Amino acid sequence: MSPSPWRLAARTERMNPSVIREILKLTELPGIISLAGGLPSPDTFPVEAMRAATTRVLRDHPREALQYAASEGYPPLREWVAAEVGSRGVAVDAAQVLITTGSQQGLDLVGKALIDRGSRVAVESPTYLGALQAFTPYEPELVAIACDDEGPLPAALAAEGQGARFLYVLPNFQNPSGRSIGAARRAAIAASARDVGLPIVEDNPYGDLWYDAEPAAPIASLWREGTIYLGSFSKVLAPGLRLGYVVAPAEVMPKLLQAKQASDLHTPSLNQRMVHEVVKDGFLREHVPTIRKRYKAQRDAMQAALAAHLPQSGPRACRWQVPGGGMFFWLELPEDVDAEALLPRAVERGVAFVPGAPFFAGAAKKNTLRLSFVTVAPEAIERGVRALAAALETTR
Ligand SMILES: Cc1ncc(COP(=O)(O)O)c(C=O)c1O
Repeated sequence: MSPSPWRLAARTERMNPSVIREILKLTELPGIISLAGGLPSPDTFPVEAMRAATTRVLRDHPREALQYAASEGYPPLREWVAAEVGSRGVAVDAAQVLITTGSQQGLDLVGKALIDRGSRVAVESPTYLGALQAFTPYEPELVAIACDDEGPLPAALAAEGQGARFLYVLPNFQNPSGRSIGAARRAAIAASARDVGLPIVEDNPYGDLWYDAEPAAPIASLWREGTIYLGSFSKVLAPGLRLGYVVAPAEVMPKLLQAKQASDLHTPSLNQRMVHEVVKDGFLREHVPTIRKRYKAQRDAMQAALAAHLPQSGPRACRWQVPGGGMFFWLELPEDVDAEALLPRAVERGVAFVPGAPFFAGAAKKNTLRLSFVTVAPEAIERGVRALAAALETTR
């Protein structure tokens, strides 16, 4: 056999298959109740509205919808995003909005524009695995900031965040932990970051999915020129559209734009026009509450099942917070239980989850796991949690 002509770049050493995708293969086995997924429920996709919008776009603007377009994005959609984030207290001009191919691309562009080899990047503990995957190829030194049930501790931020290129933070219903940062903590984080000159990258794909109370205003509203804000249509319309956005201060926007040009020239014109056609007259004001209602019932079913089946006191106690929104519960098992070792036992009993360790940039808490409640009916959630409790019993 002749030697391979391919020589991979050194950075590929740092790229790893998503542990979650590997786990999902296991969980797609028939008969398994998967609480492992990270996908929205397809029952929430507004198929009819999309179909009608697509028909209108292709009828009225076929040539533009199928042509190359500006890298910044479709101007009316940028205007819509500027007004949308403006209504959350983040006053911006449409010139500060870059439409991206999912907010995942926004994370990659941020990494490309801001991270050098060895740059310190501060992240929450735990944090979104997809962000770790996006940043890692740019070879940062990831700094895991100490967190409590309300996110990063401002004092830890001041101590450890100094000199970092940015703090990556998810203030609303975090993936994976489900936790949210309250208004006072947001203010303290913004103040502390501003003090030490630490810019913030605020990722908010779940903010609209609140079930108890609307979240506090974005950190971007507290420190506009020091924050890059990312949003997404994936959780309020459909993720297959691959449509998100970055709102960035004027001094970084040109470099994000050039990074985007190199990456994919622009986000598909047809998708941008379709989505603008759907959202322009206030469709989300009607649609999002239907998603909230559905997911809230599933959230409540999971809370009830966890409370019924898992010990909450004594030596085998499990700990969790009820998420005020989003898609996930985060469980802390007894210290001596490794969630990865627990997974095959759970699968044997018919339920799957995602072990928590891969979500940590620093020292991993192996006794943690993530449960998604949005794609499983309440009755199956109950059975799934019961099976999880039975698997946990075997660790005694
Ligand atoms: C925290 C977080 N950020 C970004 C993304 C990527 O979303 P998008 O579909 O907009 O690329 C996800 C997807 O699950 C997410 O959970």
